[in-house]
Amino acid sequence: MKVFITGIGSGLGKGLAEIFVKKRSEVYALGRKIPEDLIGKVTFEKCDLQRLEYISTSLEKLLSNVESLDLIILNAGVLTKLKDIHDTPIYEMEMMMDVNVWANKVILDYIIDRNIKVDQIVAISSGASVNGNRGWHGYSISKASLNMLIKLYSREMEDTHLVSLAPGLIMTPMLEEFVLSSDEEKFPSVRRIKSAIKMTPSEAAEKIYNSLHILKTFDSGSYIDIRNI
Ligand SMILES: NC(=O)c1ccc[n+]([C@@H]2O[C@H](COP(=O)([O-])OP(=O)(O)OC[C@H]3O[C@@H](n4cnc5c(N)ncnc54)[C@H](OP(=O)(O)O)[C@@H]3O)[C@@H](O)[C@H]2O)c1
Repeated sequence: MKVFITGIGSGLGKGLAEIFVKKRSEVYALGRKIPEDLIGKVTFEKCDLQRLEYISTSLEKLLSNVESLDLIILNAGVLTKLKDIHDTPIYEMEMMMDVNVWANKVILDYIIDRNIKVDQIVAISSGASVNGNRGWHGYSISKASLNMLIKLYSREMEDTHLVSLAPGLIMTPMLEEFVLSSDEEKFPSVRRIKSAIKMTPSEAAEKIYNSLHILKTFDSGSYIDIRNI
């Protein structure tokens, strides 16, 4: 398989890159950093996805010789510390929109403009895109927007199957740093997440890998929570 993944520096993206390397896939990745154990095993291009104007140049360097891809996983995402939306500055929400939504628009536009044939696209969303729990501010808004972005592109990319996928709870730097350290009295979802079973990044990556064919049975453009399949 030829796979393109965004954000392999840590967490789920690292787990995904590792599993596809293990399965002998050809892995292309875009992100700010590459883990040491993946150097030489993944074709990597450094790119800060918040800097939207540089993404196409990085994609051109990474994918100039690629005519088709079996799978794209739009994994890179950011969350800031949980807080009330009233206390969340717009610039912080704009940063989440840029990385979680608009960077993916730039990537999909590049794929369409370059006429790269893609069989399947999975955008990593979150239960936060539909839950509306207190404290999830611009992250919830950005993931809800991502779900709609994917639905809209599914109408235009007729030969590609696209879904946005909530991957379940995964013990990653994002969860530890911004969720588990938050005030559980003020934000009840934190207490629920603390007591819930969490996957390791490699368990989550394997679950996604094993679900790829099931995802294709849903309508293109769907939002799917992996816990429900
Ligand atoms: N953990 C969970 O329980 C959970 C639940 C639902 C959804 N998710 C989603 O899963 C995805 C992966 O998150 P994670 O939990 O694995 O968190 P993580 O360990 O913080 O990973 C986030 C990834 O996004 C990349 N990234 C962030 N900002 C970037 C930027 N400006 N430019 C390029 N890459 C950037 C990082 O890559 P670099 O380090 O290389 O920059 C990193 O690999 C995200 O979309 C997240 O919203 C996670």
